[in-house]
Amino acid sequence: MQRYVPAPGLENKAAFIDGLIARMTLDEKIGQLRLISIGPEMTKARIYDEIAAGRIGATFNTVTSAENRPLQEAAALRSRLRIPVTFAYDIVHGHRTIFPIGLGLASSWDMEVVRQSARVAAAEAAADGIDMTFAPMVDISRDPRWGRMSEGFGEDPFLVSEIARASVRGLQGDSLAAPDSIMAVAKHFALYGAVEGGRDYNTVDMSPMRMYNDYLPPYRAAIEAGAGGVMVALNSINGVPATSNTWLLRDLLRGQWGFKGLTVSDHGAITELMQHGVAGDPREAARLAVEAGVDLSMADSIYLEQLPQLVRSGTVREQTLDAAVREVLGTKYDLGLFHDPFRRIGDAARDPADADAEERLHRAEARAVARESMVLLENRNGALPLRKGARIALVGPLADAPIDIMGSWSASGKFKHSVTLLQGMREAVAAQGGQLRHARGANATDDARIVEYLNFMNWDMPEVVQDQRPAEAMIAEAVEAARQSDAVVAAVGETRGMSHESSSRTSLEIPASQRALLAALKATGKPLVLVLMNGRPLALGWERDNADAILETWYTGTEGGHAISDVLFGDVNPAGKLPITFPRSVGQIPQYYNHLRIGRPFTEGQPGNYTSQYFEEPNGPLYPFGYGRSYTDFSVSDVALSADTLERGGTLSASVAVKNTGQRAGATVVQLYIEDPAASVARPVKELKGFRKLMLQPGEEQVVRFAVGEEQLRFFNARLEQVAEPGRFNVQIGLDSRDVKQRSFELR
Ligand code: NOJ
Repeated sequence: MQRYVPAPGLENKAAFIDGLIARMTLDEKIGQLRLISIGPEMTKARIYDEIAAGRIGATFNTVTSAENRPLQEAAALRSRLRIPVTFAYDIVHGHRTIFPIGLGLASSWDMEVVRQSARVAAAEAAADGIDMTFAPMVDISRDPRWGRMSEGFGEDPFLVSEIARASVRGLQGDSLAAPDSIMAVAKHFALYGAVEGGRDYNTVDMSPMRMYNDYLPPYRAAIEAGAGGVMVALNSINGVPATSNTWLLRDLLRGQWGFKGLTVSDHGAITELMQHGVAGDPREAARLAVEAGVDLSMADSIYLEQLPQLVRSGTVREQTLDAAVREVLGTKYDLGLFHDPFRRIGDAARDPADADAEERLHRAEARAVARESMVLLENRNGALPLRKGARIALVGPLADAPIDIMGSWSASGKFKHSVTLLQGMREAVAAQGGQLRHARGANATDDARIVEYLNFMNWDMPEVVQDQRPAEAMIAEAVEAARQSDAVVAAVGETRGMSHESSSRTSLEIPASQRALLAALKATGKPLVLVLMNGRPLALGWERDNADAILETWYTGTEGGHAISDVLFGDVNPAGKLPITFPRSVGQIPQYYNHLRIGRPFTEGQPGNYTSQYFEEPNGPLYPFGYGRSYTDFSVSDVALSADTLERGGTLSASVAVKNTGQRAGATVVQLYIEDPAASVARPVKELKGFRKLMLQPGEEQVVRFAVGEEQLRFFNARLEQVAEPGRFNVQIGLDSRDVKQRSFELR
């Protein structure tokens, strides 16, 4: 085989790329702006030819070195200018080893856990010849109807920004060029999580202050952490689609934020400019996107077909095109591909005989991360941990669900590798002595239309396979298992497809078939432990009133069954905290902790007309942001401040003593919130500004100190200037966002 010889002049990036651009034909330049999905869109044979002809710059959806090598050979050995192709893929929470979904990772409130999971994902992906991922997904969302909430990290700008940084650091490692690093493309820029009504792909309308204060910070954090790319959102923003939004992509992203990397359209989004109604034809759509600053066009041929004529006629300036090409080539340079296009693909001799081989997984890491990702919502009458040696009935449609436990966007994860809850508990029970009875008890839903919808979205195989027995027979079997047991564990919630792209819901309830099962189990009088698997906050009023314990596990990934079992039997004390508010009902949406102050707030315990409330049910969330219980108890002292005034440029310290007052070792997350009660504009009732996770032995006490300076007090005012205004501030510290201790100080 021919060998790749690096071109001369590689030492100087800018000069090298300029030199290359000077030698490129118009068609070759346009070719570099195409990101093509391998699949039904284009056959492999055709792709080889297109790449060799210089008409494709990047591909996605090939997931092994063996698949990628011939594509790279076509580019780096056979195309006229030998420009390497880039391989991308959606590696959102793991590649072959699947880690917990975004909401689960966020529930750990542990940035090292987040970074580690991204590091493993990057190393596995790079070992498969992949260079780039469309992640992290850092869209803030306050609307659990939106199915894509599962991919993100919740509702809070501060927490999501921290996670964005940790993810980028994990994916990109110390150097983008390292053979085990992949490039992060943060998404979806911007505001995708705020689609109206939580309906996917819907429009977004938002005030600039809300944008700057609440929704934009995580994208900026990802960029500041060095994310090489940004994916442009599918939605419009105040009437202008992100894909044609010059303000967004040029003024804000590149201008104000100084972003120097690659912008990538979302799937088919440039063509969709016609559907949005801002482009009359493909020619206009291509012009709008390239002029707005969309470098790489994903999964369409619109740049290929329209840009030649647009540039030749002078409608689009060649400089505009060159700027986009420069970003694409710059990415390839940074990824080290011009030095060695095969640095991630490696030699054929090194290809694993079986890409899905067990030894390629990182199970220990996945189990460790999954243990951190669960949130204990309820635990009454000592229902948890389960007594080792007890007789346990395990029921529910998600008890033995190897696909669902991986969650959506599970990249190259294979369900044959998943440890289901049934497997995990069986192993634990076998090791401990005890009994486990399993009965499915119910289908995830009995609504045939929903099953059809969920299966329609999966092209590989139907994911939702119905047990054909009558619902009553399944429930009767589960009730019988419960009667013969000391405790019942019910694994219920959503199939993974229910919390996915294009899976918005109008209800947040556990589907009726599962609720009926739970009601029958409740009637047995046995302790009832719910293990929830779901990708969004659910409305859990009934469950809270009727279950003895509720463990929110989200989707825990490849090692989920082991990790959940570790928590259920008390080998691990859960320490996760909610990264998002759980509303009581869909009618309360949006329900988020950091809402603005209002003129007529409702005060708990002081009902009255003409205050802001819903009158049919209690106000406030069912479970607040930051909430999560433990098998032990903690106390938090009053807040101590090192001073009552803060001079500009200075810091003061806010501290509390946290004590483990229970019988077991356990971790918790101490959370710092700040409120600016009188400002030039209405400000949130509180905002997270710091957190610390700490492990305490029984009886142990630790003082936790947070430094507070101007940085924590700044916000974007009505003129979008970032300011810290003088006056009083309230510091609130607690173990969730609702139950806090408060002290005030003055900023001079
Ligand atoms: C569409 C999704 O919106 C985006 O998040 C994803 O990266 C692309 N498809 C590619 O799969």
